[in-house]
Amino acid sequence: TRVIVCATDEIGEVAAGIVASVAPAGVLGVATGSSPLALYASLIRRRAEGLRTEGLRLFALDEYVGLAASDPCSYAAYVRSVIAGPLGIPADNVRVPSGSTAADGAAYERAIADAGGVDVQIVGIGRNGHIGFNEPGSDAETRTRVVELDESTRRANAEHFGGDLAQVPTHAMTQGVATILSARRIVLVAAGSAKAAALRAALTGPVTADIPASFLQRHPDVTVVADPDALREDR
Ligand code: F6R
Repeated sequence: TRVIVCATDEIGEVAAGIVASVAPAGVLGVATGSSPLALYASLIRRRAEGLRTEGLRLFALDEYVGLAASDPCSYAAYVRSVIAGPLGIPADNVRVPSGSTAADGAAYERAIADAGGVDVQIVGIGRNGHIGFNEPGSDAETRTRVVELDESTRRANAEHFGGDLAQVPTHAMTQGVATILSARRIVLVAAGSAKAAALRAALTGPVTADIPASFLQRHPDVTVVADPDALREDR
């Protein structure tokens, strides 16, 4: 695992420098949430300067069960409005997990395989050590499936649902740990002291389902781009 420490406001630029290598026609795995926003903003700036992004294919990590793609709180809406739209990527090139059955999960796995696999996967990390929505307890063999969200995860995301925990879905469809690890290259972005304990456990702790991000230690090409607060030893 390579770790790049940089100022908070440089994370997006540095990570985008790695991600841009998939252009003009690669397969990009995309995380939602706050951590990669600056990365996407940087890709959009690079497109304005001539980077060809229209031919990228996108696969999202996860989606809430029960939210339609038209729901503004859905990750499908995030991927459309924050990533695909501004990068000029047609809807046909964008996949987000959907549905709630084992067959839906298997279909998503097949779609990734049919695309030739993910070239670069962007991930964030949860305060509880999750990647995607693989909550603690998710083992290395997990594939795309429905999971129950930890209450801590639902609380962390309640701000996107008007601060009302009751509005946050209880389940999600997520790529599994094995799905994420099958990407050829992984870029993890993290900022702020709230991520420090999880990030330290993921990078230097035992490889364990208690911290699903620790399975990244088994991948040959992971780059962590994080600020000093996220990498502090004493948090
Ligand atoms: C999002 C995802 C999650 C987030 C994580 C961190 O698609 O899969 O694992 O990356 O919860 O979220 P933020 O970046 O909002 O702190």
